[in-house]
Amino acid sequence: MPRNRKILLSGVKPTGRPHIGNYFGAMKQFVDLFNTGKYECYFMIADYHALNMLQNGPEMKENIIDLAIDYIAIGLDHRKAVLFKQSDVSEHTELAWIFDSITTMPYLMRAHAYKDAEAKNKEISVGAFNYPMLMAADILLYDADIVPVGQDQKQHIEYARDTAEKFNRLFGNTFKLPEPYIMEDVKTVPGIDGRKMSKSYGNDISLFASDDEVRKKVMAIVTDSAAPGVSAPIPENVFNLHLPIFKALGKGAEASLKALYESKQGRYKDMKELLVADMIEFITPMRKRREELSKKRSKIISILKKGGKKASKRTAKKMEIVRAKIGVKLGK
Ligand code: ADP
Ligand code: TRP
Repeated sequence: MPRNRKILLSGVKPTGRPHIGNYFGAMKQFVDLFNTGKYECYFMIADYHALNMLQNGPEMKENIIDLAIDYIAIGLDHRKAVLFKQSDVSEHTELAWIFDSITTMPYLMRAHAYKDAEAKNKEISVGAFNYPMLMAADILLYDADIVPVGQDQKQHIEYARDTAEKFNRLFGNTFKLPEPYIMEDVKTVPGIDGRKMSKSYGNDISLFASDDEVRKKVMAIVTDSAAPGVSAPIPENVFNLHLPIFKALGKGAEASLKALYESKQGRYKDMKELLVADMIEFITPMRKRREELSKKRSKIISILKKGGKKASKRTAKKMEIVRAKIGVKLGK
């Protein structure tokens, strides 16, 4: 394994079950980058970020374990990547406080998430307001070179870069500026009603759905009626949901899938059957792995603990430097 590999860090909040859109929009990129072997990888469960929306102990616990299982089931090998939860590495919250102290309110008020909440007249928590500073700490503590995230997280990476620059300006060069790795070319995966697949629309298909669920959901997809004068209409939303799965299975490029759909001559049900078959083929190995892992709860807990220890080794060193720079470390 090459030494001095670049550092990759990313995180997901343990707030719910992943769907096919999450997989193609974010998780698949984690796996692809991990599989290149070029990066020393840190995959985090952002439980303290989740606390802003999830304030239920037993549910939090279940979600954390579920997400750890998801990470492993999609192919992030815990022996080669560090899988850990944020709350096990206390330097994250410590550094977030330091960043809070050098950051102004007006600057944080520019965050999209804050502005959205304001526009809706929502009372947001102090934690949600400071969210970008905890995320900056997550990233900067590891001197991460790349942080793969979806388009919606772009601003948070910019906050991390700005915060690193500000700290470096005040206290001398300390933090590396992370390169944004925004997965922009990832198309939005449509849900069963044609809108963006999203938990909040209830139009999603679980990444670990059973065969029955897959069939039911796919058959329920609302197909738009054909445009007049089109001889071999293809229901776009079925096709667009099928395409990333078709490609991930290595069955060919867009043209091959198009040809396949065209051969069905506008028979939507037959096209949906094609999608059902491919979706089941795609989901089954991951779902089986997930089922196996779910039986080994204590092993999952110990994987996370070990990951936390590994992560802490890195962050402890970094925090020593930070404390020295800001002047709270006395002596050598
Ligand atoms: P949801 O909309 O279901 O709440 P999240 O906002 O939790 O999903 O998204 C988590 C990640 O998955 C983000 O990086 C986001 O860009 C990606 N993602 C979510 N839905 C889709 C989709 N339909 N197509 C592509 N990417 C998606
Ligand atoms: N805010 C990210 C999201 O909602 C999750 C996250 C927390 C994260 N800390 C991170 C992502 C650090 C990348 C790096 O998706």
